[in-house]
Amino acid sequence: MKKLLKILGGILLFVVLLVIGGLVYFNSAFPKVPPAKELHVEATPERLARGEYLSKNVAGCVDCHSMRDWTLYGGPKIPGTDGKGGEKFDHDLAGIPGVVYPRNITPAGIGDWTDGELLRAITTGVTKNGTALFPIMPYMNFRKMSQEDLYSIIAYIRSLKPIENKVPDRSLDFPMNLIVKTIPKPMPESFPSIPDKSDSIAYGAYMTNAASCFDCHSTADKGVPIKGMEWAGGMKFCLNGVCVTSANITPDNETGIGLLTKEAFINKFRFYRDSTAQVIPVTDGKQTAMPWMFYAGMSDEDLGAIYTFLRTVPAVKHKVEKFSFGSF
Ligand code: HEC
Ligand code: HEC
Repeated sequence: MKKLLKILGGILLFVVLLVIGGLVYFNSAFPKVPPAKELHVEATPERLARGEYLSKNVAGCVDCHSMRDWTLYGGPKIPGTDGKGGEKFDHDLAGIPGVVYPRNITPAGIGDWTDGELLRAITTGVTKNGTALFPIMPYMNFRKMSQEDLYSIIAYIRSLKPIENKVPDRSLDFPMNLIVKTIPKPMPESFPSIPDKSDSIAYGAYMTNAASCFDCHSTADKGVPIKGMEWAGGMKFCLNGVCVTSANITPDNETGIGLLTKEAFINKFRFYRDSTAQVIPVTDGKQTAMPWMFYAGMSDEDLGAIYTFLRTVPAVKHKVEKFSFGSF
């Protein structure tokens, strides 16, 4: 009996050591991303202007990394909070397995990062100290942007007003706390160039990717888009207890935006350019996660190209009830 216990004890110890060894290996091997490159991003006036446009109206850096007023329709940005981070993203908001907070990306937060470390974070999802970022931060999309656009974004966020703000640490549920480390991929050898505007489908695809439209507009299971349901909507977001489902934006005539003309599509965004449209109180439990206010600042040309690209995705019949009052 004693001998048996000894053997069992030995096996148990072996298993424990194996698990510990495995975890030590896993933690040192992942995320599998080489050190940041040495580079210098010069802040030219052109880059600052392009970077502001991309950060505020396309890629959503400044908006996601600011505080939002969810008592108003669309959750406009609270003035004076640009880049300070701290909004809570949790399970209610798109089913995140845990709690994550966009971090302080003003110079008070990332002032001591090198340009190379910023480029690495934005395109691979690995921070200065080697932590893997949860991919609600759309680094998998940003790595498909041009180097010049990425440099412009870096130049611009460096010019944000420094705001001291200690953002709470994230906490991811098991096993996502481990899986997250396997998501970052090394930086691409080279970044693509921006397609010529005359090729409006390719140019539209580029802008649609930079604006992360896909991330919210596909039916997903645990964050993974379901095959055949791309762009067909159905993702649920709950904000302060009010829920909304993303729309089908495939060219299906009945359940998508097939019957929407380019002009009507652009107008949906244009509506929010008017400052009075940015202060509509949330009433009757109607709220949206669609960042209309931010995208409204996109040029008609860019919105038009996004529309042109969206006409080319396969039409999917999928009826979505965007607002269903209090039934979730
Ligand atoms: C949809 C929301 C969202 C958008 C859009 C977004 N981010 Fe983030 N970002 C996050 C979240 C959330 C984190 C923290 C993730 C975590 O802790 O795992 C983060 C982390 C970061 C970090 C790491 C900072 C640190 O201290 O660790 C940087 C740098 C960053 N983002 C820059 C950007 C830039 C630049 C853009 C635009 C090109 C951008 N983000 C767009 C949500 C977003
Ligand atoms: C954070 C999630 C999110 C992102 C990112 C997002 N959307 Fe949406 N979108 C929604 C939700 C939720 C709705 C439904 C509620 C509404 O109409 O506001 C919606 C609605 C729409 C509608 C209205 C469709 C209709 O039938 O009325 C269009 C058009 C649209 N989105 C296009 C886009 C485009 C283009 C992009 C990228 C530039 C984008 N969305 C990015 C969440 C998102």
